[in-house]
Amino acid sequence: MTIYQAENYQDMSRKAANIISAQIIMKPNCVLGLATGSSPVGTYQQLIEWYKKGDLDFSQVTSINLDEYKGLGPDNDQSYRYFMNTNLFNHVNIDKTRTFVPDGLEADSEKACSEYNQIITREGGIDLQLLGLGHNGHIGFNEPGAAFEKETHCVDLTESTIEANKRFFDSEDEVPKQAYTMGIKSIMQARKILVIVSGESKAEILNEVLHGPITPAVPASILQLHNDVTIVADKAALSRISGL
Ligand code: F6R
Repeated sequence: MTIYQAENYQDMSRKAANIISAQIIMKPNCVLGLATGSSPVGTYQQLIEWYKKGDLDFSQVTSINLDEYKGLGPDNDQSYRYFMNTNLFNHVNIDKTRTFVPDGLEADSEKACSEYNQIITREGGIDLQLLGLGHNGHIGFNEPGAAFEKETHCVDLTESTIEANKRFFDSEDEVPKQAYTMGIKSIMQARKILVIVSGESKAEILNEVLHGPITPAVPASILQLHNDVTIVADKAALSRISGL
């Protein structure tokens, strides 16, 4: 596991974008696993900037997103598909038909999940998976639990996740209570994993993820077992880690 310390959010974003750029340059037809949330927004902005300068070409890239709220469609401005379109895809030359997000409008959870697993397999797996870290240690929407869920599945979001996400909705009632998410197995099968973490509020959980026991109670702790993980975190997020 390699840990890069960034000065702040902006620096974290630039360092993360550099790693993603390197992946695209080295393998133009790579499969990127992408995330939503506040952590990657700056990274995506940096990638867009480099694309506009002519330094990056997304024309052969495939993307597979981690998760989507069940019940929200692409036109809902809180859906993750909408987020990806507005924060990245609309601004670069990626072929939208090669961008995958779980189908939030598919009411049949089993169907939605098995179709998504098939997409991941068909595309040959993920070359580089970008992850943010939830305050409770979740990755994707793999919430703390009694076991590591393997492949794409439908989850009931925890109170803390609903609480954290309600800032994006008019009221807590509107926050979806379920989501489709890639499982831990699918994430762990990515050839490389890049985790971005920013802010003091994540310092405690980041320390647990990196140095605590590997347990489904802290889903991201499983990353200790992956052989190619890069963490890019700012000073505030790394403030509980000693010896850096
Ligand atoms: C988003 C996702 C989530 C977030 C996590 C951190 O696709 O899967 O696991 O990465 O909740 O969210 P932020 O970055 O908003 O703190």
